Amino acid sequence: MLPADPVVLVIGATGYVGLETVRAAAETDHVQRVFAHVRPGSQSRQRLLDGLDLASDRIRIEECPLEEAALDDLLQRIGPTHIFLCHGTTAKRADREGVDGNPYEKVDLAITRQLVIAAARVEGDPGLGPRMVYLSSMGANPAARSPYLAARGQSEDVIRESGLPFTLCRAPLITGPDRPERRPGEVWGRRLLDPVLSVLGFLGMRRLRGRYTSMDARETAEGLVRSGFHYMTINRAVLGDELRRVGVYEKESWVPASRRDEPRF
Ligand SMILES: NC(=O)c1ccc[n+]([C@@H]2O[C@H](COP(=O)([O-])OP(=O)(O)OC[C@H]3O[C@@H](n4cnc5c(N)ncnc54)[C@H](OP(=O)(O)O)[C@@H]3O)[C@@H](O)[C@H]2O)c1
Repeated sequence: MLPADPVVLVIGATGYVGLETVRAAAETDHVQRVFAHVRPGSQSRQRLLDGLDLASDRIRIEECPLEEAALDDLLQRIGPTHIFLCHGTTAKRADREGVDGNPYEKVDLAITRQLVIAAARVEGDPGLGPRMVYLSSMGANPAARSPYLAARGQSEDVIRESGLPFTLCRAPLITGPDRPERRPGEVWGRRLLDPVLSVLGFLGMRRLRGRYTSMDARETAEGLVRSGFHYMTINRAVLGDELRRVGVYEKESWVPASRRDEPRF
């Protein structure tokens, strides 16, 4: 069951997954309002304006710098019950924006940290702040060799140690023909990996297939929203097979009903 009238904030709402997350959250029953965050000067602002039904009184766009004082003000003002973190850079984009050093630490991890600090200051029920729903990645691990996966793992740790309720959604490759940006590496990853996983699934490795087969933004967003609102996914990581539209629960073959389940009279 959802808390009364959730108020959702989506960080990274101009992105491929973020925009779909705003839409999916706004379509969820009982959600009072969805705030789509856009950073000042974002090149993708227009994509957000074009992609959202702004006539809906459930959706608002919030432009705000990702800085401590501004975030504090924003969060105090809107009082989110759920914060979806869908931000992140790529090496290419960070280079274009003149980010020095490790882009995933400087952008992905740093923004997550700022949001966690601001969220922890939001007044709510005692001992309870907004639920942090983090779009992470399969393979996220602070000790990973890949700087991207290491920053994802470190971000997960920051959220886990924050004392806030959370759900860490470890998505597989997210790609689809509707991605506005050209990313040939992702397209080839999908073309090569998905057929292999499909064969492995046919041979019985269904969990592996469910966890690693690519997803598009819409399916990922639906998985984020479902997991982010569900009580069974609180304070734990959710893997690719749980994020899927037809997920692990639908595919599980349950044991036959026990005698306890039969009507007694
Ligand atoms: N693609 C995958 O296979 C995959 C899998 C698992 C997890 N993820 C992670 O999920 C996240 C979202 O994926 P996506 O495909 O939706 O990414 P995307 O389309 O590139 O969107 C990234 C979002 O982050 C924002 N952003 C980028 N650089 C920023 C900066 N320096 N400061 C503040 N905001 C910044 C963007 O804002 P602007 O529009 O203003 O630039 C945009 O809203 C990414 O971090 C990605 O690493 C991706």
